[in-house]
Amino acid sequence: MAFDHTKYSPAMHFDKPDRQWPSRRLEKAPLWCAVDLRDGNQALINPMSVEQKRRFFQLLVEIGYKEIEIGFPSASQIDFDFCRALIEEDLVPDDVRIQVLVQAREDLISRTFEALQGAKRAIVHIYNATSPTFRQKVFRVDRDGCRDIAARAAQWVKDYAAKQPSTDWTFQYSPETFSATEVDFAIDVVNAVNAVWQPESGQRVIINLPATVEVTTPNVFADQVEAFCEGIDNREHVIVSLHTHNDRGCGVAAAELGQMAGADRVEGTLLGNGERTGNMDLVTAGMNLYSHGIDPGIDFSRMPEIVELVEDITDIKTHPRHAYAGDLVFSAFSGSHQDAIKKCFAIQKEGEQWDVAYLPIDPADVGRRYEEVVRINSQSGKGGVAHVLERDYGVELPRWLQQELAVVVQQQAESAGGEVTGEQIHQCFEASYLNPPQGWSLDGYDVNRQGDTVSLSADVDGQNVQGQGEGAVGALVAALEGHTGRSFSVEAFDESTLGQSTEANAMACVRVSSGEQQQIAVAMAKDTTSAALQAVLSAVGRLTGAESAAA
Ligand code: KIV
Ligand code: ZN
Repeated sequence: MAFDHTKYSPAMHFDKPDRQWPSRRLEKAPLWCAVDLRDGNQALINPMSVEQKRRFFQLLVEIGYKEIEIGFPSASQIDFDFCRALIEEDLVPDDVRIQVLVQAREDLISRTFEALQGAKRAIVHIYNATSPTFRQKVFRVDRDGCRDIAARAAQWVKDYAAKQPSTDWTFQYSPETFSATEVDFAIDVVNAVNAVWQPESGQRVIINLPATVEVTTPNVFADQVEAFCEGIDNREHVIVSLHTHNDRGCGVAAAELGQMAGADRVEGTLLGNGERTGNMDLVTAGMNLYSHGIDPGIDFSRMPEIVELVEDITDIKTHPRHAYAGDLVFSAFSGSHQDAIKKCFAIQKEGEQWDVAYLPIDPADVGRRYEEVVRINSQSGKGGVAHVLERDYGVELPRWLQQELAVVVQQQAESAGGEVTGEQIHQCFEASYLNPPQGWSLDGYDVNRQGDTVSLSADVDGQNVQGQGEGAVGALVAALEGHTGRSFSVEAFDESTLGQSTEANAMACVRVSSGEQQQIAVAMAKDTTSAALQAVLSAVGRLTGAESAAA
């Protein structure tokens, strides 16, 4: 199909040549408003019940949100009942403001104030769409008509609020579709609203700028926000808020640039549930600040719990690659990534600035375990395999053996497909190197040293072998050469002590050759001599073709 050049054009051309925002930095967290229970809820196949809203609200409060849009009480009985429950059961902490949305219609505004009777503090949020598409096609009003709808609604809000003076009111207005509205007109409408509310006289006012549908790149949105902030009357008395959606996949970026352009507040939802492609994700936005050393004021250390609750209530699975929250975002499968992470982990010290390759944040800060970081499949290398064996079983292999084991594990991963668990790696290690071949288990031994010579007598599965050499290993090799009539050479030998959690204290790893053939074996035992002798016995046993005994 040929591309149709006439079908789409940039919905909004806006250019602010004297823009200041590109040279600004985010230096503090904005005021956050969680709109999960309204905008998020509105987009669900199965909207939330009162009970689900209670659980969600409780979580939002616990992790630190101070402004929470709880619903649309004039449009939904559930939202009305939930609002009443929060107020009547005194479930709203003193430092939290509940926010409710309502269209610019008197009957709905009246019902909204009914829902809010007795609230200690509340934000009444009114909106009407201001873009040309809505003015011309949906509401069929001109600019004046559109401005009047907003100003009239502002007056109703003011009047109804005056009848409930015991509540500490905040008024909020959204020129819906702001991002597709001419900026001069958005300013005009907002000035008309503020002429009614008079923020300069002490009324708390939030002006919320929605990218109802994301129609531009984030830089254009930032230009619009900056021009708006510079253009409105009494800017210093108004809280400018952003409400971005994710139609072009840039909801967070637009909100971030919008803050650089002057906004004070940001609305969004946890993990970005919301209409179409969703609302701006509060988790990503908050953690982006956190990872740059700015306290978002929200506790994301409970991330797994947050994800579980949001998934449970929205019935939407979190993408495994979702920034900061997905199952796989702290996992490295590739060998080179694992190697770099392992090296950085070894250097990273508690209390020092976080600087670990491939991990923008410490997974522990969002309740994740280091065990998830290195995971093994056919893409992984020796560093990763060795890391898992050491991490999960306390077994530290010499480098030459790491290489060998990685090849065996990779073959297994390739033939089985998918991930290889720590347990499977350990099984692979046991079967390939650790289990002594049948008939080659050391029952006991006796060593006698005279000068430089060691005499060894060893019982191997009921048979006695004897030999002499420079050390116990040399003496055993001599004994086995006599026993089998073949010559053997120990090409590599490493011994180490094991962590206290294992029964064995010592481990020996050997590579023994005989002519062209060679075999590797590992043994663990109470003492280093027993481990070394058993490792040599196992390697020689394999060289003679003996089958591995079962684990
Ligand atoms: O996306 C939007 O424009 C909204 C408004 C009602 C704030 O949700
Ligand atoms: Zn929205």
